[in-house]
Amino acid sequence: MIIRRDDDDEIHAKLVARRGCMLITPMTLRIRRLGCSAAIVVGMALAVSLRAETGHDLWLRYVLAADSSQRESYRRAVTAIVVPQGSPTGDVIAAELVRGLRGLLGVDVPRAPRPRSPGAVIVGTPSTSPLVAALGWTEALEPLGVEGYVIRSATVGGLAATVIASTGESGALYGAFHFLRLIQTRQPLETLDIAERPKLERRLLNHWDNLDGTIERGYAGRSLWWPDRDDQRVHDYARASASVGINGAVINSVNASSRSLSTPFIKRAAGIAAVLRPYRIRVYLAANFAAPKVLGALTTDDPLDPAVARWWKGKADEIYRLIPDFGGFVVKANSEGQPGPQDYGRTHADGANALADAVAPHGGIVMWRAFVYDERVDPDRVKRAYAEFVPLDGRFRDNVFAQVKSGPLDFQPREPFHPLFGAMPKTPLMAELQITQEYMGQANHLVYLAPMWKEFLDADTYAKGPGSLVSKVIDGSLDGRALRPVDGQRRTGIAGVANTGRDVNWSGHDFAQANWYAFGRLAWDPGLSAGAIADEWIQMTWGYAPDVVATIRSIMLDSREAYVHYTMPLGLHHVIGGDHYAPMPENTDPRRADWSATYYHRADTSGIGYDRTRRGSGAVDQYWSPLREQWSDPATTPDALLLWFHRLPWDYRMKSGRTLWDELVASYSRGADEAKALETRWTTLSGKVDQARYQAVLAKLHRQREDAAAWRDKCLRYFQTFSGGPLPMK
Ligand code: GCU
Repeated sequence: MIIRRDDDDEIHAKLVARRGCMLITPMTLRIRRLGCSAAIVVGMALAVSLRAETGHDLWLRYVLAADSSQRESYRRAVTAIVVPQGSPTGDVIAAELVRGLRGLLGVDVPRAPRPRSPGAVIVGTPSTSPLVAALGWTEALEPLGVEGYVIRSATVGGLAATVIASTGESGALYGAFHFLRLIQTRQPLETLDIAERPKLERRLLNHWDNLDGTIERGYAGRSLWWPDRDDQRVHDYARASASVGINGAVINSVNASSRSLSTPFIKRAAGIAAVLRPYRIRVYLAANFAAPKVLGALTTDDPLDPAVARWWKGKADEIYRLIPDFGGFVVKANSEGQPGPQDYGRTHADGANALADAVAPHGGIVMWRAFVYDERVDPDRVKRAYAEFVPLDGRFRDNVFAQVKSGPLDFQPREPFHPLFGAMPKTPLMAELQITQEYMGQANHLVYLAPMWKEFLDADTYAKGPGSLVSKVIDGSLDGRALRPVDGQRRTGIAGVANTGRDVNWSGHDFAQANWYAFGRLAWDPGLSAGAIADEWIQMTWGYAPDVVATIRSIMLDSREAYVHYTMPLGLHHVIGGDHYAPMPENTDPRRADWSATYYHRADTSGIGYDRTRRGSGAVDQYWSPLREQWSDPATTPDALLLWFHRLPWDYRMKSGRTLWDELVASYSRGADEAKALETRWTTLSGKVDQARYQAVLAKLHRQREDAAAWRDKCLRYFQTFSGGPLPMK
């Protein structure tokens, strides 16, 4: 007897509802094909349902729609997949739709050459699909570019259909993932009229992967591709990344080994590129500036030396022979001991341009990092990059980006935006965010980073008056660059330092996956809200029950501010030391003053904080008016940045009426309480989400709560030796 599909799905749906976890639908489908008895199916289904979720499926779990009328309406809306044959991207689109719909709808939706009944999902471009061409939508599609798409309910050959159309296969791919997301987030499919295009052209993950497989600042296991590649992993990585529109991956660390440009490694990079290509993810490499000497046996790396320029050209030609769609180079030069053009008395522009000229004939780009803090430039570390880079504005080739971290220090839990945003109107700036939680509790603390990134993207630089948001600087609209493409490309982009590794759940913490997801979504559209992104991710990753969504949402949205409260209250920065996990306010690094916590907090009996007003380092003057005036006065500086910009006495009267010391105590205490509350709120989800991930997250939240209390105590005890104020704990 062949079990009726509805019974099968009912069992599945009930189990999903009861256990909050997904059955392996392909197994039930296989069983159905074999004609097993219902009893066996139920037995096996139960056995399967007890399998713990591992987090490996990320947000692409594709859980069956539990509501039967909704499921029926989806099944009516989706009866066939019509994707042109013959292109690798077309094949991954079709495979993802089959896979996704099998999970979401509980049926195998066939791939067909053309619609034969209502409910076809037609995907393609006017050049790959005669059906799409016949719709005559060119005028609507062209402004959306090759990565943009429309998803529309339409009538094709007299039959109701959903059309996912783009002028490029990338757009078709992103549209297909968007379509799946509609079902994943349980949206209706009846009257679709969606048009999307990414706001930023280059949406890159930067993997700080070393060639030996270790990952710098990685907390989720070893590299996905070095020294050997796990193909299935890389495919799944590509699926997940493409699902949020990521279109590039720098596959080695910014502290690059010259060997990464040697022929054997380029061949390996070509292998990785071949796996990523159908998903429209280009490979980029981090280059070491000393490669001409190390690999080419030249006597110099001087970028103005013709032999050096020739070497870079030859190297670029070699790479493009093996990787025709190679994206380009990212370079960390004259920073933290890395070689660079200044070793030869040349500027960062000279260095960047030498590499840019080498890749330009192939359409490549160079992302020259502005993470530089040469002690000779200025006593205040946060002023140095601006001082070095602003004079170079206009001196970079067209295909060079300056890659600038979100803040002027180094991925602290809260920083003001980097003053280079808004100060280099002639240079495309690629914003660099950090997804891996180097200073943010690593893989132990739950910290949803989208609110922090939104704070950065929505910050007003005032470079051209009010409304000159960071997001408008990087999307080029503030300086008209987005509208003026060079070689058909808008010079805009954003990079995120990745948090992926070979851990089963990819990111070490089940909630760190949300940061990978949110980075991609914000790279696509910086205008999305942190809450909306969280809602999508929660539904796709954890479940649909309104109380589950609301609880997880509140945990996520509160987590970053809680983390700030217990690690860097009132703008106290770089207190986290050592391996960048725990606060070490006492830390004085003998190697460099600016690697020391004491250099930043400057606590003594007279007060605490770094004076960056004109009386102090003058860093405020790197910002446009009215920020420089606002941040020059403690009364108009937000409390959250107070000690970033000001040095104040312990009895300074805060806006709250408390003294500075009491406010510091209140903030640390609040942070520890908030961390505790994250754990308490999570416990209300017991039995409502799958047990394995519930327990794993609970264990981490428990550690977070303990850490937060310990860090509060440690920091307050330390600062109390200077303030002499009362302590809340014994
Ligand atoms: C941080 C980080 C380093 C990294 C550097 C960079 O300082 O700790 O590991 O190399 O940033 O961005 O280059």
